[in-house]
Amino acid sequence: KTCILIGAPVDSGKRRKGCLMGPDAYRTAGLAEALTDLGHGLIDRGNLAPAQVEVPAPSNPAVHELARTVGWTKTLMAAATEAMGEGFPIFLGGDHSLSLGSVAGVAAHAKAVGRPLFVLWLDAHTDYHTPDTTDSGNLHGTPLGYVTGREGFSAFPPLPAIVPGENICLMGIRSVDRAENEALQGSGMTVHDMRDIDENGIARPLAAFLERVRAANGLLHVSLDVDFLDPSVAPAVGTTVPGGATVREAHLVMEHLHDSGLVCSLDLVELNPFLDERGRTAKLMVDLAASLMGRRVFDRPTRSF
Ligand code: ARG
Ligand code: MN
Ligand code: MN
Repeated sequence: KTCILIGAPVDSGKRRKGCLMGPDAYRTAGLAEALTDLGHGLIDRGNLAPAQVEVPAPSNPAVHELARTVGWTKTLMAAATEAMGEGFPIFLGGDHSLSLGSVAGVAAHAKAVGRPLFVLWLDAHTDYHTPDTTDSGNLHGTPLGYVTGREGFSAFPPLPAIVPGENICLMGIRSVDRAENEALQGSGMTVHDMRDIDENGIARPLAAFLERVRAANGLLHVSLDVDFLDPSVAPAVGTTVPGGATVREAHLVMEHLHDSGLVCSLDLVELNPFLDERGRTAKLMVDLAASLMGRRVFDRPTRSF
């Protein structure tokens, strides 16, 4: 594959600063080398900057940095659609508000080639707010609301293609706000919270979702939030929630995603290098991306479930 690194130093999706250093932390941790070692081609587009836009005042006064996040969405949507025509985009975040643009842009590409887009959301949070329902006002909590076509995003670019809730699977969930909980009921999305993963493991729910993607001849976008992982192994994130995925669970997900051959694009989000310990979180994220792109401990025959 030709991997296209798209630096998205988005820091407007929440109040705590630091995610703007994420793209360079991934580069420092050896992401490009890991991918070329696996035999992939590599294009690094450098770090993008948000479009300058003007927006009306948000109806919810809590909303933080609306114009900047709208500008990023515009820029990243275009970058995503373009990169999909050339290779396998990897969005180096930046906070999770970058996914308003990356997912919408990938969805536009999927529509253009006539295939349904599926999304795997690996996160402690459901990120299903709208600018009207968020209490924190942090727009990194809204990307799934936007891409599924919820109301309240009139300041944002019109969605080129809605991702149906039925095509979205969330894993690792352990923090859901009340307003999200209510909206999730009718959303059609599949939510595997940590209790579910404790009871059933992570491989089987994933296999069931991948089977659906395959049956629909779909494209699969993966959005990996650092806080999917347990904070004891991935401390470099502003929104830690105890009880997350282990290193092995996360690698297993990535290995199965690789073996499926279905993944077309990836977000690496919410890394805040200011909070890291000697780069360990950045390195773990690079290792997980490498597993997704084909790194394996030894060559054994591919197993299917
Ligand atoms: N639900 C909370 C909020 O809206 C937390 C969102 C965290 N999102 C994230 N991408 N880390 O503020
Ligand atoms: Mn998130
Ligand atoms: Mn999160």
